[in-house]
Amino acid sequence: MENFVTLTYNGSEIKLPVVIGTEGEKAIDISNLREKSGFITLDTGYANTGSCMSAITYMDGEKGILRYRGIPVEQLAEQATFKETAYLLINGTLPNREQLTNFSVMLNDNSLVHEDLKTFYQNFPRASHPMGILSSMVNALKSFYPTLGTREEEITLTMTRLLAKVRTMAAMSYKISRGHKVVYPRPDLTYCENFLNMMFHTPVKPYELNRAAVNALRVFWILHADHEQNCSTSAVRVVGSARVNLYAAISSGIAALWGPLHGGANQAVIEMLTAIQEDGGNCKKAIARARDKNDPFRLMGFGHRVYKTYDPRAIIMKKMCDELLASLKINDPLLDIATELKEFALKDQYFIDHNLYPNIDFYSGIVLRAIGIPTKMFTVMFAIGRLPGWIAQWKESMDDPKWKICRPRQIYTGEKEYNFVPIHARE
Ligand code: ACO
Repeated sequence: MENFVTLTYNGSEIKLPVVIGTEGEKAIDISNLREKSGFITLDTGYANTGSCMSAITYMDGEKGILRYRGIPVEQLAEQATFKETAYLLINGTLPNREQLTNFSVMLNDNSLVHEDLKTFYQNFPRASHPMGILSSMVNALKSFYPTLGTREEEITLTMTRLLAKVRTMAAMSYKISRGHKVVYPRPDLTYCENFLNMMFHTPVKPYELNRAAVNALRVFWILHADHEQNCSTSAVRVVGSARVNLYAAISSGIAALWGPLHGGANQAVIEMLTAIQEDGGNCKKAIARARDKNDPFRLMGFGHRVYKTYDPRAIIMKKMCDELLASLKINDPLLDIATELKEFALKDQYFIDHNLYPNIDFYSGIVLRAIGIPTKMFTVMFAIGRLPGWIAQWKESMDDPKWKICRPRQIYTGEKEYNFVPIHARE
């Protein structure tokens, strides 16, 4: 195969190098295009644009493949802990026993948050969305934990602090929103157990760890841990490219994830299923609305920019959802509506023609509901899971000697130059 492509325009030819990834993905390197030809590329929404070279996550949207550092996500969901997965994403390999112990000790040591942070929480209006609060609070962490000695120390400790503290902060925000006493992390509990305990333990009703719920949370977080250059990860990389501190970069990722077209879809799915239920469970009506171009309604939890087949995470999530509900003896009518909706959608010509399949969010809300997580906290749960991915992607970009500030171009479509008109002359 040629290692360049030739662009021909008005009789002149420009050769552009071809770049091929380890799984055979092909790209045309256009980094010298403007210099050589005066052209830029135009790709609204970046659907055809590779923003970086990355060794972290591989996904094939046509075949429904997702791997972290080469390991299929199915294997990680089956066998790994969330901590191991986080270590793998950030450091590139699975930890040995000693590395895992050290990592666990560091996470435990950093799991408390500054007591003054509680005052911040108390001053947000009651109706504030937890994602807005989390984004602000993560940004505020920089003021509580100022710069350290070496860059290496700074990076390692900041990454650990984020992984350890965001989980505590999320549970803390829930407790404060209920007017309850904050529960602190315990060194004898695992990462997932600790979170559930901080959420649900009360002085009058000690939380009894439920194996099925702990396992569901483990799988949920592993499945969300990274997804290459999605909207929030790109936000982290773009904001980070200005060499801002990691807290600020992650805070921007949280803000991006909040959107209903991205991480906010898990909350939107439950709201949609509830609305269908309240409307008498009419799934066909919802499908008809989703098809109607004059109706802005979309079937939440369906479709994906990259997956043009089943989202592999949705398959694992559905299986785990069935197991969890059976184990907890929960009969959730929203799951019945989701199942019926999916059956209709997969047979519908519009959904077939548009390659619209269930994505991870279609089932994740039902899993979170079963664990007892309130709907408003769903996207926060996603954010905790995505932290290792954001951190790994930020670290990779910082370690890349060729990484530059992200600064796209545009094609200007506004007015041509004209002269300023003083106010008395404007009519
Ligand atoms: N319901 C109905 N129609 C849809 C849906 C949907 N859920 N998703 C896409 N379409 C249609 C669009 O109307 C469009 O139709 P047209 O070409 O006839 O105009 C076509 O499919 C392509 O849609 P785009 O929005 O251009 O596709 P894009 O790749 O930009 O969007 C997205 C992907 C945002 C995920 C979209 O499928 C969507 O809005 N889904 C619902 C929200 C959702 O579930 N988001 C979670 C995504 S997974 C995650 O972030 C974890």
